[in-house]
Amino acid sequence: SDDILIATYPKAGTTWVTYILELLYFGQTERLTSIPIYNRVPMLEAAFPSLQPGKDHLDNLTISPRLIKTHFPVQFLPKKVFLGAKVQVYMARNAKDSVVSYFNMEHMTTLHPEPGDWSSYLQRFMEGKMVFGSWHDHVNGWWEKKQNKLCCFLGLSPSAEEKEIIIGKVQFDAMKKNNMVNYSTSRELDFTKSSFMRKGKVDDWKNHFTVAQDEKFDENYKQKMKNSTLQFHTEV
Ligand code: A3P
Repeated sequence: SDDILIATYPKAGTTWVTYILELLYFGQTERLTSIPIYNRVPMLEAAFPSLQPGKDHLDNLTISPRLIKTHFPVQFLPKKVFLGAKVQVYMARNAKDSVVSYFNMEHMTTLHPEPGDWSSYLQRFMEGKMVFGSWHDHVNGWWEKKQNKLCCFLGLSPSAEEKEIIIGKVQFDAMKKNNMVNYSTSRELDFTKSSFMRKGKVDDWKNHFTVAQDEKFDENYKQKMKNSTLQFHTEV
């Protein structure tokens, strides 16, 4: 009943929020410096063959609370998840930064097909033809759960000193250098193509989108999000 489910559309900052939660719950334990993050926090759908299937992995986890990661759209989750006292943390990121980050990740993920050129990739993203489906449906689906008040708060109260330590550890440069969170030990990622902790910046999409792509994306976004009450803050 104390499981914590971290749900995101890929590239939203899953690893970042996961590491923050681990530091909040477990502090400076040896576990965090000796086991890669993808083995500490099982992915429910276990997309990589080198990972244990999510359920087996979970059954073997003896820590509490167990942190579980998923990229599943909300309707793919077992109903039980929303009935118990489980905490769900959903992290969303600006759609344009997400698609740029995803495109770079696809180049290094040896298990995925080649992503193709940027323009057709962006088109597929807008049409929702991605492994985890439409970005728009994903964030809206999870957002509706929030409105049903099914998400609980964590109920933690770290001291000022603990907060300082955590803030230091989750800075982009610190995480980029940390082999237990930067995925450098993963056999499925080709680091000659990109890096997992790539830029960690807001608005990198401006270096990738043409003006025409930006206009088309905004039009598509407006259409797909017209019934959504979700609002992104433009500052971080
Ligand atoms: P970029 O590719 O834009 O750099 P996920 O963990 O969901 O796959 O998300 C990965 C994205 O989060 C990458 O984005 C990565 O650099 C960014 N990220 C990870 N840790 C970060 C941190 N500490 N600060 C800022 N961005 C971070």
